[in-house]
Amino acid sequence: MARSSPLLITFLTVIAAATSVTGDNKVGICFGRNSDDLPPPFAIVDIVKNNHISKVRLFNTDAPTLQAFKDSGIELMIGVPNENLTYIANGGVDAAANWLKTNIFNHVPANQVKYIAVGNEVLLRDTFYAESIVPAMKNLHQALKNQNLDKKIKLSSPQASSVVGSSSPPSSAAFTEAALPVIRPLLAFLKETGAPLMVNTYPYFAYASDPKNVPLSFTLFSSDAPPVQDSGITYTNMFEASLDAFVVAMEKEGYTDIPLTVTETGWPTAGGIGAEPTKAAVYNNNVIMRALAGKGTPKRPKIPVEVYLFDLLDENLKEGSEFEKYFGIFNLDGSTAFSVRFA
Ligand SMILES: *[C@@H]1O[C@H](CO)[C@@H](O)[C@H](O)[C@H]1NC(C)=O
Repeated sequence: MARSSPLLITFLTVIAAATSVTGDNKVGICFGRNSDDLPPPFAIVDIVKNNHISKVRLFNTDAPTLQAFKDSGIELMIGVPNENLTYIANGGVDAAANWLKTNIFNHVPANQVKYIAVGNEVLLRDTFYAESIVPAMKNLHQALKNQNLDKKIKLSSPQASSVVGSSSPPSSAAFTEAALPVIRPLLAFLKETGAPLMVNTYPYFAYASDPKNVPLSFTLFSSDAPPVQDSGITYTNMFEASLDAFVVAMEKEGYTDIPLTVTETGWPTAGGIGAEPTKAAVYNNNVIMRALAGKGTPKRPKIPVEVYLFDLLDENLKEGSEFEKYFGIFNLDGSTAFSVRFA
């Protein structure tokens, strides 16, 4: 594996820290660590910097990883694990402040943290914690406010697409009955605090689960994909149609201007039908171009959608379908697994 010298890394770190932070249009990348074959954290920071990626999503608060990113100039989205939501929800503002200090601020400066993602896909995979999400967010918000950090660090809670029932066509979308008891107070909180709705969206899953009926061309942004006409809007790809399903579902709850942040999207390179590097390249490059251009969705073209790509590396310990292991955009040596540009 390629390793840079510690001296060079220190030097680059100083340069990066001196350059100023980055606009929202820059694309971010997720760093999932569900693998027994990971390079050391400093090598991860190198990969991110060498490719001019300015934002990283971390799913938990692994201390060596946070410390490697410290003063790197890279903005962080840091996840609160689902298993910590009860403690933060029930323990009040003191527990929230204590959690923030122990798990985050002891390792990275607050000014490097852009988002705290409170839980991940709780309504899909961890419903036991559902009722703790918004109370935990409120305690964390008050704890941040007490330190004057609530304007700088935004809180949200990434949701799987399954919280929206039917999404085809997008105008038919609505949050599911099961999700509403959490989604309603969540949207009220996001509106009040000026934070985005965080969503994970994978057109690949739709294709892989029904390849006979879901046109591959529509999931891969192909110009000859059969377009979907819906309430005066023409959808040419599933990525934008899926995002507008969230936009419509929010509208139906009375919220028209909460922005969307895509906290995960990607395409696997192996392990399933249509999972190959050439297709992953087409998918990721299209998503990146949209993010860099600050594009919104067909329904809300003026509200840009921020994007975090999934995933930095393959994750060989991931459970579920075989393809879940193969979302990595980079190889272990830092080269890209397919042709892709981030800036
Ligand atoms: C947070 O969750 C981790 C597992 O992800 C667990 O080890 C730790 O004890 C939890 N901490 C609190 C305060 O709940």
